[in-house]
Amino acid sequence: MTTQPCAPEWLAGCRLLPVMVIENLEQAIPMAEALLAGGLGVFEVTLRTPVALAAIEQIRRYLPEAVVGAGTVLDAGLYDAALASGAQFAVSPGSTTALLQHARIGAMPLLPGVATPSEVMQARELGYSLVKFFPAQALGGVTALKAMSAALPGVSFCPTGGITPENLGAYLTLPSVVAVGGSWMLPAEAIKNG
Ligand code: 3PG
Repeated sequence: MTTQPCAPEWLAGCRLLPVMVIENLEQAIPMAEALLAGGLGVFEVTLRTPVALAAIEQIRRYLPEAVVGAGTVLDAGLYDAALASGAQFAVSPGSTTALLQHARIGAMPLLPGVATPSEVMQARELGYSLVKFFPAQALGGVTALKAMSAALPGVSFCPTGGITPENLGAYLTLPSVVAVGGSWMLPAEAIKNG
């Protein structure tokens, strides 16, 4: 098996990967500052809003201590756009061969989404040993991930989707889980209220 092009140093030790959905560009810096103040220095900005790429650019320019990834990277074009905006890693909800091959030779590591053992095996064959288990809770949560991990030695997971302060501990006790991701650290109501 080949190794992943860039080792996932950006995820090592962080344990929590906040997922940011930024609706207004003015929110980008305050949200990132709040995460940094809370000790969360590695985070993902989803490419689901029109301002996402500009937000990544701003955070990279004004908060160089943050490690910023782009989420919802669905294809090679979005991967390239994220890289051009200054993103330091990419996250995808699922896996396509085209995206995984593109990222494999790209300058930015990709955390590819997987939902089944077959997808993990495909990602592994393309050199990815760290994957995002998504949507984790809907797929059977800790029980499902534990069963999958047992059959897939050497693969590490970042479960995301439905993770809460109540269930994250159970995921993090699994030896195959390096970190958990999610949006719960940034409640929509709190963001609305500034
Ligand atoms: C993602 O984009 O990774 C998910 O939307 C995050 O899932 P959550 O909102 O359930 O935490």
